[in-house]
Amino acid sequence: MTPSPLDDLATHQADILAVIESVATLDGLRDAEPSLVGRRSPLATLQRSLGSLAPEERRDAGARLQKARRVVEAALDARRRQLSHAERVARLESDRLDLGDVVIRDVRWPIAAGHPGLVAATQRSLEDVFVAMGFTVAEGPEVESDWYNFEALNIPPGHPARGLWDSFYVDLGEPETVVLRTHTSPTQIHLMEAAVATGSLPIHSVMPGRCYRRDTPDASHLPTFHQVEGIVVDRGITFADLAGVIETFTRAYFGPEIEARLRPGFFPFTEPSAEFEVTCTICRGSGCRTCSHTGWIELGGSGVIDPAVFEAVGIDPEEWSGFAFGFGIDRCAQMRHRIADMRSLNENDTRFLRQFV
Ligand code: PHE
Repeated sequence: MTPSPLDDLATHQADILAVIESVATLDGLRDAEPSLVGRRSPLATLQRSLGSLAPEERRDAGARLQKARRVVEAALDARRRQLSHAERVARLESDRLDLGDVVIRDVRWPIAAGHPGLVAATQRSLEDVFVAMGFTVAEGPEVESDWYNFEALNIPPGHPARGLWDSFYVDLGEPETVVLRTHTSPTQIHLMEAAVATGSLPIHSVMPGRCYRRDTPDASHLPTFHQVEGIVVDRGITFADLAGVIETFTRAYFGPEIEARLRPGFFPFTEPSAEFEVTCTICRGSGCRTCSHTGWIELGGSGVIDPAVFEAVGIDPEEWSGFAFGFGIDRCAQMRHRIADMRSLNENDTRFLRQFV
């Protein structure tokens, strides 16, 4: 049998495949390509040598060569994909920013321990004062239906008192109106309903929590703020009990140098109602921008529970009576620590926060 130019084809193919396998980078593969499949490659040389063969042999040899080329091209493709994937993975790995690493490297040991913010700490001390006076502590939801935030509190739709509270309404696509609670008073309703359902009257509770109003922030207002609500439902409760609790609370929390006063006020859910004010601690009563130059800061509202509220929750107003109050925790913190601008509470400036460890 005459030697054919294709006798070495299998060896060439094996050599080429070995080179493809051994190349370790995409660049290396690109550099090697011309010598593997280019015009000067062994395959191209073989291709050219086919011209010397007889037509029949040529066809046969051409087909074998074609097949070898396809094998080589497929191996090139596969290796290209493999390398490009590996390089991408390596790049992602090296580009990864490990924030933990950064913090660990830059941190100064020992890390200072955190502590409750001033509002949380104030809430706790207010709770302590009321617990010492015999109140229990309860909590209610921050998202309320119109019934709890308004209607059960004797504020029917269209009642002008709704204008007192610039509310954030939540559109859940439900027929019922849903609102971010504008005060902690709806928790009174939850508590009274539960007491009626379980037959566990009387109630002596305080209910702290976060509230929301569409207020523009200023020295004494925040759109997200905190209140502590208080409620007593018992037999023979009068306005004098309310006044006594407010007085005792003010003494215990602010100390004897702060004066408190109750001024006639209006709330649809209490009758009579009173606003609860303390001497402005920033100017000590002489008038400043924090107290709008009145010398007094309004901490909240209070009053004797309106019989309409008892009726809404199914409590017999002939048998039971009670009082309620609700005042701002942020305002209490502000007055107790003489913070001229309430917005400091939200600014997260550690120089400010550190003062209240
Ligand atoms: N909920 C009232 C307010 O936010 C305060 C209040 C509470 C008044 C309880 C009377 C009784 O303004």
